[in-house]
Amino acid sequence: MSDIVERYNIPEQHFWLHGPRAGGPVEHNAAAGMWNVYGYPELQEILGDPATFSSNVLRITPEDQKPEGLSLEGFITQIDPPEHGKLRKLVSSAFTRKVVADLEPRIAAVTHELLDEARERGGFELVRDLAYPLPVIVIAELLGVPSSDRGLFKQWADTLFRQDTKVSFDELFERRPQDRETTMKSWWEMSAYLAGHAAERRRQPRADLLTKLVEAEVDGERLPDEQVVNFAIVLLLAGHVTTTMLLGNTVLALDAFPEHQERARADRAAIPAIIEESLRFFTPFALLARATTREARLGGVTIPADQTVLVWLGAANRDPRQFTDPDVFDPDRDPNPHLAFGRGIHFCLGAPLARLEGRVALDILLDRFDHLRTDPDDPVVFMPMPTMTGVRRLPLV
Ligand code: HEM
Repeated sequence: MSDIVERYNIPEQHFWLHGPRAGGPVEHNAAAGMWNVYGYPELQEILGDPATFSSNVLRITPEDQKPEGLSLEGFITQIDPPEHGKLRKLVSSAFTRKVVADLEPRIAAVTHELLDEARERGGFELVRDLAYPLPVIVIAELLGVPSSDRGLFKQWADTLFRQDTKVSFDELFERRPQDRETTMKSWWEMSAYLAGHAAERRRQPRADLLTKLVEAEVDGERLPDEQVVNFAIVLLLAGHVTTTMLLGNTVLALDAFPEHQERARADRAAIPAIIEESLRFFTPFALLARATTREARLGGVTIPADQTVLVWLGAANRDPRQFTDPDVFDPDRDPNPHLAFGRGIHFCLGAPLARLEGRVALDILLDRFDHLRTDPDDPVVFMPMPTMTGVRRLPLV
C-alpha cells in the first residue's frame, strides 16, 4: 500500500489506508456525539435494517441546525419505508434498465467527442477532459436539461460536496454558518432551475427522463413537482461526482497495476471485473449516514436510540474478515461483494449506468491510447477528505 500512497500523494485522512481501526468495527466518537462503524458484517446489519437504522437523519438534527424551509419530499436517499418503496417503484418505472442500456451508443459518441476535443487542445488531464464532463453530459441529456449548463451543475455540486476544503477527520462534521449559507444558496438555485424545467415538461412533454418522471404513475398516483425536483437533484448529485471518481480511480488502478492494463487490452471482457475491484479498492462514496430509531446491539456494542451512525463503506470494503488480502488489487475476486453501491432497499439505482459508463469509456481509452500512464512530471491530485475516494486531477502522458 505504502508505494501507492507515496506515488499518488494519497492524503493521510483516507484512514482505510492504515488497516483496520484499532478501536474495532464500532467506535463511539464522544466528542462528535456520533458512532463510526467500519466492519463489513456490521454494515450489512445496518443497511439491512432500515427500521432500526433510518435514512432520515434530519429526524435527529437539532432544530437550530436544520436548514430553514428545506423539504426532503422525494429525496429518495433520505426516506424510510413504507414511503421509500412507493417512491422507488415510481422512479424505477421511469429510470429502467432499458433506458440505461439504450444510452450505450450516446456514451460512446460523447467519449469520442471529448477525447477529440482534448487532442486538439493538447495535453490530457483525465478528470477535466473526460471523467468529469462525461457523466454530467450523460445525466443532463438523460434528464433533458441542456448539457451546456454543466458549469452550473459543477458549481452547485462543488459547494454541496465542499470539494475545495481541506478537512481532517475530526473537523468533518463541523459546519461553519457561512458554509451552511453557501450550501443552501446552491441548493435553492438548483431547485429553482429544475422546477422550471419540470413545469415546462408538464406543459410540453418531451422524450426525456424529466417528462417520464412527471408522467410516472403507480396505483393511480403521480409525483408532485417538489418530489420530481428533489429526485432530479439526487440524480445530478449522486450520479456525476461518483462516476467521475470511478473513471479516475480505475484509470489510476490501471497505471498502478500495469499487468491488469495489459490483460484488459488483450481481452476487453476483463474490464467489468477491473471496475468492480476499483469500486472496492477505491470506494468513491466512502461514507453514508443513518440515525437509530431504537437501541441497537452492533458488533458487541450497544448504540442508544436517536444516535447518528456513520457507515464507512470504504473501510468495510477492506475488512479482512470479508476480503482476503484486502489491500491487494485483485480483479479475480469472485464473487466481489463490495458495498460501494450500498446494500438493501437504498442500493444505488444508478449502478447499471455507472458500470456502463465505466465499461464504455475504458474500452475507448484502451483503443485510443497505446499506454494509459500517469505523467511523472505532473502529480496526481487526490481528494483531500475521507468521505470521498477519488482523484481530482489525473494528468496522463
Ligand atoms: C444510492 C453510490 C452512481 C443514483 C447510492 C448509494 C450509494 C451509491 C452508496 C446508497 C445510499 C444509501 O444507502 O444511503 C454510487 C456510486 C456511483 C453511483 C459509487 C458511481 C460509481 C450513480 C448514478 C446515479 C445514481 C450514475 C444516477 C444517475 C442513485 C440514487 C440512489 C443512489 C437515485 C438512491 C436510491 C435509493 O435511495 O433508493 N448510490 N452511486 N448513482 N444512487 Fe448511486
